[in-house]
Amino acid sequence: MGMCIITTGRSAVAAHDFCKIIWLLGVPCDKVSLAIVTQIKAMGSYKLGPVTPFLIQANHASALGQVESVNFTMISTSMSLGCHVEGSSVSAFWYSLFDNGTNYCNLHNVIRGTGLTKAPGFIEFTNEWLCLGFGVSACK
Ligand SMILES: *[C@@H]1O[C@H](CO)[C@@H](O)[C@H](O)[C@H]1NC(C)=O
Ligand SMILES: *[C@@H]1O[C@H](CO)[C@@H](O)[C@H](O)[C@H]1NC(C)=O
Repeated sequence: MGMCIITTGRSAVAAHDFCKIIWLLGVPCDKVSLAIVTQIKAMGSYKLGPVTPFLIQANHASALGQVESVNFTMISTSMSLGCHVEGSSVSAFWYSLFDNGTNYCNLHNVIRGTGLTKAPGFIEFTNEWLCLGFGVSACK
């Protein structure tokens, strides 16, 4: 599965500053989804978009008037006992290239805020290849 993710992640980096993160956790996806939606609503810089059981969309307003589009996609694992979550964040404009990890922090801060980082089996996976700026990010 890891190989598959890496090969599909590459192409999307081309045009805009982009970050993709994968989280695995031992919590059913419906609980994960509820926690993410609740957290996004509680964070002032995010605006919740369409929500379905498998996809949560939102926009994030950064400093300097930039807006990033953020998605969280949920896929059940292990007979619905676990959840595979993919987060992606894309900057709307070219000029945010080398944004010091803004796109990484957009995703990471939501998950950290939910407290799911303490859930059983929690793993966060990304790297500089899937997530531009990951290596220099300093999330507030
Ligand atoms: C979020 O999902 C929508 C619908 O599939 C897609 O059009 C959009 O490009 C995605 N945005 C990100 C940031 O992945
Ligand atoms: C990134 O960090 C550098 C050094 O701290 C700073 O000068 C620059 O303005 C930052 N860029 C953005 C888009 O925040």
